[in-house]
Formats: sequence, C-alpha cells, structure tokens
Amino acid sequence: MQTRHKVIIGDSRHIPEVADSSIHLMVTSPPYPMVQMWDRQFAELDPKISALWQKLEQESREETVTQIYSAMHENLAKTWAETFRVLVDGGIACINIGDATRSLNGKFRVFPNHARIIEHCEKIGFTTLPYILWKKPTTKPTYKGKGAFLGSGFLPPNAYVTLDCEFILIFRKGKLRQFQPHDPSRYGSAFTKQERDEWFSQIWQVTGTRQTVDKLERRTAAYPDEIACRLIKMFSVEGDIVFDPFLGSGTTTKASVENNRNSVGYESDKCLLEVIKKKIGCSATKKLAELQIVGT
Ligand SMILES: C[S@@+](CC[C@H](N)C(=O)[O-])C[C@H]1O[C@@H](n2cnc3c(N)ncnc32)[C@H](O)[C@@H]1O
Repeated sequence: MQTRHKVIIGDSRHIPEVADSSIHLMVTSPPYPMVQMWDRQFAELDPKISALWQKLEQESREETVTQIYSAMHENLAKTWAETFRVLVDGGIACINIGDATRSLNGKFRVFPNHARIIEHCEKIGFTTLPYILWKKPTTKPTYKGKGAFLGSGFLPPNAYVTLDCEFILIFRKGKLRQFQPHDPSRYGSAFTKQERDEWFSQIWQVTGTRQTVDKLERRTAAYPDEIACRLIKMFSVEGDIVFDPFLGSGTTTKASVENNRNSVGYESDKCLLEVIKKKIGCSATKKLAELQIVGT
C-alpha cells in the first residue's frame, strides 16, 4: 500500500494546517514537565515559564515551583486541545509520559505528570481508557533522589521508590469508531492471538532506545520503534492517518510507513529535520509514496 507522510516544522500548540476530524490516531511523547533536559525548551516556548524560573532563583518560593509545573502542563494542554479537534469521532490518543522526580528549594518530590495530563484531557472532553505501564529495565534505585542506592540505602526510612515505569495514557474522542460490517481495511489489520494477549496486558517490558544513536537524536529521548508500532497496530487500521505533535526523531512516522498508515507530524526544533529524514529513509521502501516537508 502506498502511504503519504507529512512533517511540519512548527509548533503543535496551534495547527491550522490540520482539518477538524481528519486524524484517526495520535501517538506521541511530549517533553516531560519538570525533567531538567526539557526546562530550556519549555522556557523558550513560553516567556511566562522563563520569568517564573527567574523568580524562583530570586525568592525560592514553593508556590513558584507549583506555578512552573502548572504552566508547563498548560502549554501541553494546548496541543491536547488541538488533537481533540483534529481527531475523528472515536479516534484514539496515546500519550507516552513519565513522572518526574526532582529536588527544588531543597525538597525532593515527585511531579505526577501522568495525572496532570489525565486531568487536562478530561477537561478537554476526552474519555480516559485503561493505560499501559511501560517498565523500563535499566533504571537503578535511588537514595534521597541521588542516583544509585548507597550503603545507607539499607536503613529505613529515608530511601525512595525508583520510578522505573513510564505511562502510555490512552484516551478516546467521543463514541466507539464505527465500521461497515467486514470492512476489509479493518479485517486486514487484525492482530494475532499472541499479539493481542501481550499488547493488551497492562505492563509492557520493552527495551529502551539504543544509546548509541548520535547526539542530536539522543536529545529527543526517542521511544523505541516497538512502542510506536504496537500502538499503531492496536488503535488504527491500514490506510488511517496517524498524528504525532511532538515528532522528535520521527519514530512515529517510521512506524506509520512500516505499518501502511499515513502520517502527519509536528516538530518545533528544525535541527531535527535531518534526523527525521534519515530515520524515515532507513525504513522507506517502495511503500513510502510521498514525504512532504513543510515550514523549513
Ligand atoms: C520527547 S521528544 C519526542 C521523541 C519522539 N517520540 C521520538 O521517538 O523521537 C519531544 C519532542 O517534541 C518537540 N516539541 C516540544 N514542544 C513542541 C511543540 N510545541 N510543537 C512541536 N514540537 C515540540 C521537541 O523538540 C522534542 O523533539
């Protein structure tokens, strides 16, 4: 099957290029609020966040930390609202997100990003469906928030549980998607019993992306192809359009190409365009009919 893929270099908080009710599935992983590697990007996207970090440096107030965290989620929520608009009735949104742990103002705590996103998406009108816990095999236990357990980590009560799972949140817009009886694209997209049993269980043990990828790709914190492929096969049928508003290195586009789906992706960092093209090029067979790049 020939498929079409569009990569838009732009900001997914506002996506006039995508028509209402035109997308069947969103698969994405946004920058994680309160994870340090994304601080600069959130601050660049929203001057209010930048000003709040400066205020925190000057005043060290607890309230400011809460405001920064909320402002980051308010920015992400603009993309979730746009996603709601562009999804078809019955369309699914899958969001890979990790909670964050961090010491700020001398206090170590968890920032439960998954819960904030659920709250925002419900307000927008999404229905929350049962979610997946992606257990990453590599994370080490922490002591007082400082990496690996030290010797004193054997003494209660001051050690912390390690966050070694990320969430794959699943939402639906409106009612169940409708198909004609025996719709060929739906039946042609069927999964096997073994795939169903593994994919529809709540805990996924999937190895993370290789750290041997180049520096530019590493800064996207890409999810593994396997995660994008499974979600695409679980929640869309061949010929559907898959949307990723935080495209990063282009994993979702690559998985769409490989699974006979069309795709639209947004990425705000234009330096990543070469990484995206390379990644799609790796998987581009004769099936990839058209790659359109907009906004460079
Ligand atoms: C966690 S990474 C996505 C990684 C991706 N799943 C992959 O496998 O490569 C998030 C990406 O979203 C981009 N981004 C952040 N805010 C954005 C926005 N408002 N619009 C479009 N892209 C954005 C970042 O530049 C970053 O590349």
